[in-house]
Amino acid sequence: MKFFGALLMFVSLGAGAQTINLKVKLNQPGPAISKTMWGLFFEDINLGADGGVYAELVKNRSFEFDMPMMGWDDVPKDSSNATALVINQGSASPANPRYLHIDLRQGRGYFLLSNEGFRGMGFKKDEKYNLTLQARLTENLSKPVELELVDEKGVKIGSGNVTIDSKEWKKYEVSITAGQTVPKGRLNLRFAGTGAVDVDMISMFPATTWKNRPGGLRNDLVQMLADIKPGFLRFPGGCIVEGKVLDNRYQWKKTVGNIEERETLINRWNTEFSHRSTPDYFQSFGLGFYEYFLLAEDIGAEPLPILNCGMACQFNSAEVVPLGELDPYIQDALDLIEFANGSEQTKWGKLRATMGHPAPFNLKLLGVGNEQWGEQYIERFTLFAKALKAKHPEVQLISSAGPYSDGPMFNYLNDTLRSMKVDLIDEHYYRPPSWFLKNARRYDKYDRNGPKVFAGEYAAHVKNAGSDEKLNTWQAAIAEAAFMTGLERNADIVQMASYAPLFAHAEGWQWTPDLIWFNNLQSYGTPNYYVQKMYGNNKGSRVVPLLMNNESLAGQDSIYATACIDDNSKELIIKIVNTAPASKKINISLEGKGKLLQKLVSTQLQSADQAQLNTFTDPNALVPKETTKALKGQAIAEEIPGYSFTIFRIGMK
Ligand code: AHR
Repeated sequence: MKFFGALLMFVSLGAGAQTINLKVKLNQPGPAISKTMWGLFFEDINLGADGGVYAELVKNRSFEFDMPMMGWDDVPKDSSNATALVINQGSASPANPRYLHIDLRQGRGYFLLSNEGFRGMGFKKDEKYNLTLQARLTENLSKPVELELVDEKGVKIGSGNVTIDSKEWKKYEVSITAGQTVPKGRLNLRFAGTGAVDVDMISMFPATTWKNRPGGLRNDLVQMLADIKPGFLRFPGGCIVEGKVLDNRYQWKKTVGNIEERETLINRWNTEFSHRSTPDYFQSFGLGFYEYFLLAEDIGAEPLPILNCGMACQFNSAEVVPLGELDPYIQDALDLIEFANGSEQTKWGKLRATMGHPAPFNLKLLGVGNEQWGEQYIERFTLFAKALKAKHPEVQLISSAGPYSDGPMFNYLNDTLRSMKVDLIDEHYYRPPSWFLKNARRYDKYDRNGPKVFAGEYAAHVKNAGSDEKLNTWQAAIAEAAFMTGLERNADIVQMASYAPLFAHAEGWQWTPDLIWFNNLQSYGTPNYYVQKMYGNNKGSRVVPLLMNNESLAGQDSIYATACIDDNSKELIIKIVNTAPASKKINISLEGKGKLLQKLVSTQLQSADQAQLNTFTDPNALVPKETTKALKGQAIAEEIPGYSFTIFRIGMK
């Protein structure tokens, strides 16, 4: 009997689960977890801003793309009856020099100006769309301009009209309701009768935007960001900060003030990858620095702007500004701090107030350069740091450790920046899942008294066989979840972390994988998104040791785990990742303070299929599931399924 009993126990453990004993040392509180720990990296890549979260539906609204009629299909039905001319006023209007002159003097036929949107325009049945345009008459128009929303086949699904009545430039506004839901519609402007008119800044937004701000952001996409409860928002990138050459670097001053005066600029991702060439990718800067600050505030995130440091992208031209001519770049950084924090009496603070935000944005973090490397970066960072620290010691500066997670380039920057005692070093790692698993102890070895780390861009890359695409699989997401236990455990070193990139349009992407996918009407979170959301929603206040055989957990028996206390709710939060296919039995005992357990809320992301994805047709294929149960005593016994990421929130008294 005894033999059979032993055999039975062996079989059930072997087939079901082995038991792992863990201890939480409540009496040995560890480092505080920074409020900024889990944040967001935003870049206008993959149509992230224009064509994405910035809800403008008209592409090339002011005819300022390199090819002025790109996105517009101008169809004079009979060219002897109507002409359209692109007029370039040059220096008379440097930021927005072009407009379209339409001449109908023959009085026959009509002129149809039609915009294709960003891979079409998404219209929702019964939704209102607010169209604005700037126009002036050069000859009286005998008829109002007809405005039409049309479907893929050109069938009208909504209409309105506008009477242009002034010889001076004037802004006209019309609301049109869509009668159908259409994923790839267009906007038509039909000019008929006689007369001649100039038009510019033809723009259309859904009436429903984030906080219903006119000219605002896409509600569904911002909501997904807010749901993460991010600690910070890094913007505007990414390589977009650098530009391929310095001439097309991101310049924040050109992105604030009146929308009409924000100068359109080519998006550096336009031609970056020949296999994903996007010739119609430009930056309107309708989502500019003011809007980024506002977005950060709206979603409760610390703003973290990254500025060009006098260096263009080193993967492209690697152009640099001579050290003696760096002052305007440094001045831009000083002025940005004034824009964000200065009083209304200052030049840039006044602009912020005029734009609608008299209160400061409370900027505390600033990145100098994006993904730079070499001596040329150190030289430039040094000059920035000297000037910025002299005037604004309260602002923490972020410096770059380059594009790689290790190797000579990383070592040079890391050693040099550490010897300079910088505030925070921005590390990037786009590596396979195995790297993330192997590196769960990366920060255990870091100098506890050195600069802090900002894991500013990371994602586990899983190749889609036979293509250049990389997939947001569960295998990638679970590896990130495992690695992130090491970030939390080392919260005294790692103060901030963000997955990258954030957004991708299903038909307009250049880079994969990405956290959130969208098309003109829908959006969904990847498994990686839910990992970020679970961390963001369960940040905690301070780490407590979670040990197996007196060691922290970073891959023993395929388990990665960390624990922290939430000082507000007084809960113990345990994060456990099981990267093996088999389930594990876990016994967790608490040491210290004689706390009694009351309740266990478990949030779990789990799939036996490592290739599992979420998609537009099945956006909830892999999403976290929550269960709650009562607890007693001082120990927890749970079974952790194979390939799972679980967060326990444990109420204690
Ligand atoms: O996230 C995509 C790109 O990766 C960023 O623009 C750049 O910083 C990094 O190389």
